[in-house]
Amino acid sequence: MDKQSCCLYERFGGDQQVSELIDQFYYKVLFDKLLRDKFLKADMSRVRYQQKRFFSQMMGDQKTQYTGRDLIEVHRNLGISDQQFDKFKLHLKSIAQDMEVGVEDIEELLEHVERHRNVIVFNK
Ligand code: HEM
Repeated sequence: MDKQSCCLYERFGGDQQVSELIDQFYYKVLFDKLLRDKFLKADMSRVRYQQKRFFSQMMGDQKTQYTGRDLIEVHRNLGISDQQFDKFKLHLKSIAQDMEVGVEDIEELLEHVERHRNVIVFNK
């Protein structure tokens, strides 16, 4: 396999692009009335930093190890609904589209995120 395209992380463009994706993403999330209240008490520079590492690892980067808190611990008491989770994914999709990521890569990214729904959504 071509070393440059070992995984979604590489196809995305590596560290720089993942970092850009997450920065743009939270900029949008914090303007979203449906989501922003959840982040009132959050240390956003920490969230962005940890999320970049989490996403890099999730997208297949072998050299990155997520060192943040357990996702259940972090999200359990935030009361996040399915509707909010869907909106989170929608922002991610639109940023990735803006960055001209390919359709299949966007689908793969969203599938990775979807697999975490059950550790994020507790407001059923
Ligand atoms: C509607 C969806 C979501 C909302 C409203 C949300 C909200 C939050 C909030 C408020 C924090 C900061 C918590 C704190 O510092 O006490 C946080 C941290 C975090 N979230 Fe989410 N989240 C959502 C979805 C997700 C998803 C889908 C993932 C991963 C696939 C994720 C991964 C993380 C990570 C890695 C952190 C950083 C943990 C740390 O600081 O150690 N979140 N989230």
